[in-house]
Amino acid sequence: MSPSSVTPRNVLFLLASSREGGNAEQLARKAAEALPPGTVTDWLRLEDSLVEPFRDLRHAPGGYTRPPPPELLALAERTLAADEVVIVAPVYWYNLPSTALAYLEHWSWWMRVPELRFAERMRGKVLSLVTAHSSEEDDSVATPSLMSLRMSADYLEMRWRGGLIGHGNRPGEVLQDTRALSAAREFLVRPLSVAKVEAA
Ligand SMILES: Cc1cc2nc3c(=O)[nH]c(=O)nc-3n(C[C@H](O)[C@H](O)[C@H](O)COP(=O)(O)O)c2cc1C
Repeated sequence: MSPSSVTPRNVLFLLASSREGGNAEQLARKAAEALPPGTVTDWLRLEDSLVEPFRDLRHAPGGYTRPPPPELLALAERTLAADEVVIVAPVYWYNLPSTALAYLEHWSWWMRVPELRFAERMRGKVLSLVTAHSSEEDDSVATPSLMSLRMSADYLEMRWRGGLIGHGNRPGEVLQDTRALSAAREFLVRPLSVAKVEAA
């Protein structure tokens, strides 16, 4: 596989932290700096688009009888326009933040909007995680987030790039994490075949 065949052309960064400019976002921006010229990057704060909670209407009479509201449809379309979706999400209680989980829940709705052809169009896209945590032990606190996204990627027959993990608590502390910064330089440009979880 040549590098050009795995380098994403249109990368959507979905910011899931409940604060702006935090560690996960700063690490993701470092990773984005390594993308080759011509790559289209799209940055979106999930909480701005998640205007209503997901409702499971799969088995309700008539199922999903109305289309998603414009904000959620726009989020679906931006997802579908991307070659790679990067979930930029700190560790919250050993898991993904609620905004990231809500985003994944909405996939279940979008899969049932026939015009979107969501599952069909997600197939083959790349999914990855950029995360940050403040554990003084190791990176195992990020394992549930990684597993959740990896298995979700498998379910939709997406490709899984892996995770980029940084350490920090106050905003900007991740910039002291030299291992994470080094990993960030190649995270989004390396061939997928060597995808693995980056320890920080
Ligand atoms: C609600 C909440 C839960 C958290 N849970 C954990 C945790 O389980 N493990 C951990 O190591 N850090 C935890 N943290 C710390 C954050 O992961 C850490 O501060 C991270 O750098 C925040 O990323 P951000 O700056 O991108 O928002 C938590 C922080 C918050 C606000």
